[in-house]
Amino acid sequence: MQTEYWKVDKENPDHTILAQASAILAGGGLVAFPTETVYGLGANGLDPYAVRDIYKAKGRPSDNPLILHIADFCEVEKLAAEITPCAKLLMEHFWPGPLTILFKRSKIVPDVITAGMDTVAIRMPVNKIARQLIRLAGVPIAAPSANISGRPSPTNAADVKADMMGKINAIVDGGACDIGVESTVVDCTSLPATVLRPGGITVEQLRKVLGEVALDPALYGAATAKPRAPGMKYRHYAPRAPLKVIEADTAQLVGIFKREIAQAKNKGQKVGALVANETAAQLPAGTVIEQYGSRSHPEQLAARLFTLLRRFDDQDVDVIFAEGIKENGIGLAVMNRMRKAAGFQIIKK
Ligand code: TXA
Ligand code: MG
Repeated sequence: MQTEYWKVDKENPDHTILAQASAILAGGGLVAFPTETVYGLGANGLDPYAVRDIYKAKGRPSDNPLILHIADFCEVEKLAAEITPCAKLLMEHFWPGPLTILFKRSKIVPDVITAGMDTVAIRMPVNKIARQLIRLAGVPIAAPSANISGRPSPTNAADVKADMMGKINAIVDGGACDIGVESTVVDCTSLPATVLRPGGITVEQLRKVLGEVALDPALYGAATAKPRAPGMKYRHYAPRAPLKVIEADTAQLVGIFKREIAQAKNKGQKVGALVANETAAQLPAGTVIEQYGSRSHPEQLAARLFTLLRRFDDQDVDVIFAEGIKENGIGLAVMNRMRKAAGFQIIKK
């Protein structure tokens, strides 16, 4: 398949391009587009054939439900059987934005969207390109992250091209995504509201609005509990080389990095390190270093995590060590993705 590629301005997107892209969506085709979190692989969410093509292009397991993306609040009434007071509060405070809310599904939502569950996940992105595209298409847009299943989510168009060129109808390039990790998924069909996937809206922000907010117990352990978001059970976000997360306070951190790097090099391995600038300055020569910014700016790690993980693939490293960060604010989502990418291989001392 020939994949159309269009570059558009994020703040002032070209209407004729978005009209062409939305016509493809309305006609049952697949279009990758930017959102504030990661790039999505969009299809008409009410067309089961188009939605099935998403699963094919990604190689996605069919038991993993999709998020419907909308541009206007009134769309929820058509897709949800019920809007609970809790969901209403969340919509008012966090839409448009990086929050996905679960609702009891209405009859018009196809089974292939919900993978047989009785809830439907809905989100209203804030990215202008995404919203205009959805509005022009005139239908809810099903959109998982635009990566091959298991690979890190794409946060720029080059990463989308690497996974999707030749497999989908078009790519709309709107530059780098601002947030870099996916939306927070919240279930408030029953109380307390429960976070199934940490993401762009932090748990602290949710608690300010709702008071009590629970975390799905499956987020704490490796494989102890069954996650309520089916997608959370898969090894995900993985670079090709094995990844290990080093989680220690700053006093011990560099020492552990040096020891692990020396041991790997003794085995003849080429070593990668994903670290803050402060750590990078202290690592031995000959290490392939990807640095995200200062330790005091965890949002920069969120924005660059996936694309830096992908970079190691081009550099043929045998093992990667990544620097863990604190799990408050956006750090909760970052550490969830990093540990999953590492298959929960964590070094603490
Ligand atoms: O930021 C995002 O949410 C991005 C952009 C493109 O909007 N999309 C995204 O979609 O991350 P995806 O498909 O990669 O992840 C959706 C997650 C999966 O873990 C899935 O299992 C969960 O949401 N999910 C979807 N519908 C659900 C439902 N009805 N019940 C429980 N979990 C659900
Ligand atoms: Mg995904």
